[in-house]
Amino acid sequence: MSLYTDKVMDHFENPRNVGVIEDADGIGEVGNPVCGDIMKMYLKVDGDVITDVKFKTFGCGSAIATSSMATELIKGKTLEEALELTNKAVVDALDGLPARKIHCSVLAEDAIKAAMVDYYEKSGREMPESLVGFEPHEDEH
Ligand code: FES
Repeated sequence: MSLYTDKVMDHFENPRNVGVIEDADGIGEVGNPVCGDIMKMYLKVDGDVITDVKFKTFGCGSAIATSSMATELIKGKTLEEALELTNKAVVDALDGLPARKIHCSVLAEDAIKAAMVDYYEKSGREMPESLVGFEPHEDEH
């Protein structure tokens, strides 16, 4: 019996939105120093809408599956909606993750937030309150 749900296996084996956006409007890179996994997210923004998102993850299967699901959850959404994305929503959308793998989903949430911070900094638009002082959760594992 697998520890992983069918959705996790599907997003691990067929990850959506893998790659790089060359002219990205925002790029976020986060890593977990304990496991050494690294996630990089690229956003393309038009007005208030995230029109494209891609990721590169050097990491475990759950990091790949959560990156993939996170990109699917914010693609075509507004910046405001993407800001609401939590690691829990990503885990729920994957029908769950083993407890030891929850930190992988935290990496996905953080990578998206980091890319959004980069977008607001580069575009000069006013940073939403919830992103001010954003720091990735580096200590969780
Ligand atoms: Fe660390 Fe999955 S084991 S991100």
